[in-house]
Amino acid sequence: MVRGKLILVEGLDRTGKTTQVNALARRLHTEGIPVHATKFPNRESEIGQLINRYLTDKSFTLPDQAVHLLFSANRWEYIKELKQKLNQGCYVVLDRYVFSGIAYSAAKGVQGMDLNWCMQSDKGLLKPDLTLFLTNEDSLANRDGFGEERYESNEFQLKVKAKFSEVLDAFCDPDELSIVNVTGKDIDQVSEEIWSRIVPILKSKLQEDDFKYF
Ligand code: TMP
Repeated sequence: MVRGKLILVEGLDRTGKTTQVNALARRLHTEGIPVHATKFPNRESEIGQLINRYLTDKSFTLPDQAVHLLFSANRWEYIKELKQKLNQGCYVVLDRYVFSGIAYSAAKGVQGMDLNWCMQSDKGLLKPDLTLFLTNEDSLANRDGFGEERYESNEFQLKVKAKFSEVLDAFCDPDELSIVNVTGKDIDQVSEEIWSRIVPILKSKLQEDDFKYF
């Protein structure tokens, strides 16, 4: 059985990741390719609800290490299901995953929480076949709703941006990474650019259980 590809869309808050994940899933579907789109954190599980509370209620405190492990645990909760889908030939498009996990936690600058510490709890998760990293140069502050959740401050986002570049250098194979600069582009332009990066990977065939792992 030929397996589906694992495609990850990563990036800073408010770069249009979710819109693009949905557009990509629609396009794959239109091309007759079975596809499942999902996002991390998945706020539906009990762990996800705890993460949601932490993100939305700034008075709810948890140690940074514990929060990191919750985000990681949330990925482990769903990976078996995602692997099954891939093995059945379905493409999986993810909105955030391991690289967000490391970048946001390491950006806090907590003693001991360096990139390697942050990576440990995700060791053994499936590696994406392609990571699309959306980046922009716009000011974030003016966007609707920005600032409502924890981490949504320009100061912190700048730290995350710097960490993302270290994280991708350290843990993402350059052949499996595609940077998409969304500055000044409308939704359709970004979608077209993303599609042009997807087309080459549609051609290669990977067999069931032929995965790489972090
Ligand atoms: P969202 O806005 O895409 O739902 O993500 C929620 C926030 O959680 C966002 O600020 C990024 C952050 N995050 C982490 O801190 N660690 C993680 O592992 C993930 C997936 C997201």
